[in-house]
Amino acid sequence: MGQYLDSVPFSGIIRIRDMMYSVADPFRLDQGDVSFDAPETVKAAMRRAIDENRSHYLQTTGVPRLLELLTEKLRSQNRIPIGSPDEVMVTTGGIHALYITCQALLEPGDEVIVPDPEWPPCAGNVKAAHGVPVPCPLHERLGWRYDLDQLASCVTARTRAIYVNSPQNPTGGVLTRGDLERIAGLVERHNLWLLSDEAYEDVVFDGAAHVSPASLPGLYDRTVSVYTFSKTYAMTGLRLGYVAARDPKVRERMKKVLFYTASNVASIVQFGGIGALEGSQACVGEFRRELEARRDLFYGGVRRHAAGVLSGEPPKGAFYAFLRINPEWRPPALSDRSESKGPHSLSWAMAEHLISKGRIGCVPGADFGPAGEGYIRFCFARDRRELTGALESMGALFGAHVPASSSQQRS
Ligand SMILES: Cc1ncc(COP(=O)(O)O)c(C=O)c1O
Repeated sequence: MGQYLDSVPFSGIIRIRDMMYSVADPFRLDQGDVSFDAPETVKAAMRRAIDENRSHYLQTTGVPRLLELLTEKLRSQNRIPIGSPDEVMVTTGGIHALYITCQALLEPGDEVIVPDPEWPPCAGNVKAAHGVPVPCPLHERLGWRYDLDQLASCVTARTRAIYVNSPQNPTGGVLTRGDLERIAGLVERHNLWLLSDEAYEDVVFDGAAHVSPASLPGLYDRTVSVYTFSKTYAMTGLRLGYVAARDPKVRERMKKVLFYTASNVASIVQFGGIGALEGSQACVGEFRRELEARRDLFYGGVRRHAAGVLSGEPPKGAFYAFLRINPEWRPPALSDRSESKGPHSLSWAMAEHLISKGRIGCVPGADFGPAGEGYIRFCFARDRRELTGALESMGALFGAHVPASSSQQRS
């Protein structure tokens, strides 16, 4: 790729992470990491694998027992009509699955419709495969879902795929079965691929159900579904993801990229994945219930401590608060622009203010695409003490700066 890589953007989350290292005693609500630890079943399986010297090369697509367990899970939980474990391969996290999929699906110049706001590695991976990300807005007034006529109007003769991410990062929006059926119609009518990123499949609230697009009639043939152990089993640092696809040609290409970029996923980690799937699944429900309680704690705190400055409805899924910034808000310290480390925008000004004056990690909405400007993202998967500390710090910052009109809506 060489110089071409200079045109692939780096996520601003990296810049934020660097800023956070200069803050003493920070509240790390910037990165999408859970505060839980991986369940004992995962740790015990990895210990056993170490003791049994399972430290040698493995099959490229994954150890057979793990692929078998994933096939069962995809059939029973996701209702995807998987034929055999050959249709599944494990990857170094969901981000690697996305890289492999884009490399396998795209020709230079192929367009992929991506959400705006979006998780930056999505467009980044499309670009890295010489594709062209075409943003389609998600709308806050629709619970951060698409206007489906607008989505249809994004399809051109160059469109190769639609990337959907539900539950979504950064907005927490969850697409309904009806939404997915309309999207399936588009995919079939225009002979497209659906790239379904289901990283947050187990993080849905208020009794909402996650629907895997590949479970819809006929859609599995045109879908590549991406999953990860990161969020469901609090295994973010272990780097274990997987992907399911029926098309043998696409799978063969994916396998090549997998081989050339990893040879195989770390053996000990794969045995950890077996432990996660063979063990009790109680932790999945426990994590979800705790995340729902943290969501409510965080939104309650924002209403109290940032009234008139930040607002938004609690999301139906994922673990981010994507909050609207009152457009009248101005950062007291940033009248001195020399303090600014990021681009000049309301969301960057807010992020710099919260980080430098309140020690509160967050990500400016602008980093997730043009439609994200005017918003700010917090991760509420941190422990309750950290969330409460961040909220109190917010209260101290905003107490004296409540604008006169406190219910501004951004259209
Ligand atoms: C939308 C989305 N997809 C995929 C991932 C991949 O996660 P990982 O690479 O840790 O498996 C993430 C992680 O934050 C995400 O937010």
